[in-house]
Amino acid sequence: MDSKWSPASWRGRPIEQVPDYPDPEALESVEARLATYPPLVFAGEARKLKKALAEAAEGRAFLLQGGDCAESFVEHGADTIRDFFRVFLQMAVVLTFAGRSPVVKVGRIAGQFAKPRSSPTERQGDIELPTYRGDIINGIEFDEASRLPDPVRLEMAYRQSAATLNLLRAFAQGGFANLEHVHQWMLSFIKDSPQAHRYQALADQISETLGFMRAIGLDADSTPSLRQTDFFTSHEALLLGYEQALTRVDSTSGDWYATSGHLLWIGDRTRQPENAHVEFCRGIKNPLGLKCGPSMDADGLLRLIDLLNPANEPGRLTLITRFGAKEIGKMLPPLIRAVEREGRKVLWSCDPMHGNTVKAANGYKTRPFTSILEEVEDFFAIHAAEGTHAGGMHIEMTGKNVTECIGGARAVEVEHLSDRYHTHCDPRLNADQALELAFLVAELLRKERVNRESRQLAAG
Ligand code: TRP
Ligand code: MN
Repeated sequence: MDSKWSPASWRGRPIEQVPDYPDPEALESVEARLATYPPLVFAGEARKLKKALAEAAEGRAFLLQGGDCAESFVEHGADTIRDFFRVFLQMAVVLTFAGRSPVVKVGRIAGQFAKPRSSPTERQGDIELPTYRGDIINGIEFDEASRLPDPVRLEMAYRQSAATLNLLRAFAQGGFANLEHVHQWMLSFIKDSPQAHRYQALADQISETLGFMRAIGLDADSTPSLRQTDFFTSHEALLLGYEQALTRVDSTSGDWYATSGHLLWIGDRTRQPENAHVEFCRGIKNPLGLKCGPSMDADGLLRLIDLLNPANEPGRLTLITRFGAKEIGKMLPPLIRAVEREGRKVLWSCDPMHGNTVKAANGYKTRPFTSILEEVEDFFAIHAAEGTHAGGMHIEMTGKNVTECIGGARAVEVEHLSDRYHTHCDPRLNADQALELAFLVAELLRKERVNRESRQLAAG
């Protein structure tokens, strides 16, 4: 694996999940054009995120990563972005308070368009067409024209990502993220929730803390950190032609950075060590994620860690485990032990979505809220038992009131799934379910913190 890396060196490797473009020259000319466009993110921001993730890897912060399974061209409204961000910030406040440590805020947004699929074609009745691979590649409508991969979509995805990121930056820095406002939104969520009694104590403590701070002169006017936040973007590095076109040398360090987003991750289906996706990602200096599903074993994981983080730099690599509630108890401990034995610095994050997808009786793909919660609970319990830090959570969510996952305090039932099932790919938590999950995870974070504090006390 010593062969020389370049942004194009992945092209010499075997590759999974590539779309079959009917006109490769058209694709090439779009990629060449994209390579001349401005970067979406700046290398210094990726370094800042890596630092924040290093803190989480060392147990001093918690990563919250979330957003759509797949962004789409039709759902590109300001309201969609605002509603997502509003829920996301509320979750972040709850988690920050419960853990008494910073929450690293990373969206699956502004670039999360390409989807790996289990089958290259889809059959409906007598007709077989290429599968939908995300709006950056083809269209979701089941007809021949829309399913044909179209390179123009790369440029559309780039422009949508730029516009989305622009609004998110404005929200994060321009007053929308004001802690007082975020807390007010949360209070109105609690007022309407059937589970209000479970959340009230924590909300009251935050109210009192903010009141005290205001009394001593710490408010959003006097203190910028109360009205601003750092928000980062991430997506799966799947469509490598697009990623390559946006990979640039950072003039301050001389290093290569993917500028399509701050953090890129490698999916569970494209993590073969000899293949293209690992080859591309090993050479960029961004923080990386690696999805770990049930087929990952300890040796395979250590091999990938060697390739992706040879300098053992904390913050470089986040392991996003997605085993499912049934499997996590068996799968996760051996991986943690191997990583600990070898002294590898990684951040452990729990994706409780992808291992818990089921087909409901009426044919809808859904995820039971109880399984999602169960996997997160086990994740925390396993890390507590192993003496490692349950460092983050990776979820698919939206700020809209969709009916895609079943359960939650205001229960979505199987027969509701057809009401507002809007996802272009996997079922997402709706706004209520996402916030409810944050409150439940807050209890787990609080326990972890109390245990840590009493250990420190005992150690004197
Ligand atoms: N700047 C701090 C942070 O990002 C506090 C903060 C301001 C905050 N607005 C927020 C935290 C909204 C969570 C959500 O952590
Ligand atoms: Mn998904």
